[in-house]
Amino acid sequence: MEVIICPDADEVGRVAAAKVGQVCAAASRPVLGLATGSSPLAIYRHLQLMVGEGRLDLGRASAFALDEYVGLDPAHPESYRSVIHRTVTEPLGLDPDRVHVPDGSAEDLEQAAAGYDRAIAEAGGVDVQILGIGSNGHIGFNEPTSSFASRTRIKTLTQRTRLDNQRFFDSLEDVPTHCLTQGLGTIMDARHVVLVAQGEAKAQAVAATVEGPVTALVPASVLQFHQRATVVVDELAASRLQLGDYYREVYAGKPAWQRFA
Ligand code: GLP
Repeated sequence: MEVIICPDADEVGRVAAAKVGQVCAAASRPVLGLATGSSPLAIYRHLQLMVGEGRLDLGRASAFALDEYVGLDPAHPESYRSVIHRTVTEPLGLDPDRVHVPDGSAEDLEQAAAGYDRAIAEAGGVDVQILGIGSNGHIGFNEPTSSFASRTRIKTLTQRTRLDNQRFFDSLEDVPTHCLTQGLGTIMDARHVVLVAQGEAKAQAVAATVEGPVTALVPASVLQFHQRATVVVDELAASRLQLGDYYREVYAGKPAWQRFA
């Protein structure tokens, strides 16, 4: 895993966006993997700047979101369909017909899940998957003990995740209890993965992901098996890493041909 420690949250977004942009620029029809939550917002802001300044062309890009709540009206402002449209599709000028979100209101959720994995495969697979991380180490909505082989499927949200996400709703009762999420196996199929985290509340999850044992109790730790995983964190999210100085030294000493920001 490549670990990059940045001085602040905005720099996390700039560096991660540079990595995403580098992968996209190398693909004729880039396929982006999108995450919701507050963590990747700075990436989207910087990608928007890059597109606006002509440094990145996403005109032929398509995108697949990680997850969606089950039982929430897709038109609800906090449905991930709405959030992705508002924070990614519109600002980056992506073609809405090529931006996909799991259908959490499908009558047959299992069929919708299987169809989603097929659609990703038919698009040629995800070139670069953007990830945030839950305070319990989840990625997408793969809660602890999710199978490392899992594909897109229905999951039950933990109480901790529902409490974390309560801020987007009027009350805890309004936070959905279930979701459709890409599986850990689906995420691991992406050719590149860029995980971002900011703030002290993520420090424990980041340390367990990067330096802890690979365990289903920390779903993001499966990324230790990914060939091209980049973890970009600010100083606070890095505060519990044992080898912080080593990661800083490695990044500072990178040869020019390995740099992307
Ligand atoms: C939700 C999303 C995850 C996201 C996590 C953290 O659970 N399903 O994809 O990583 O929230 O959100 P935040 O970045 O707001 O802390």
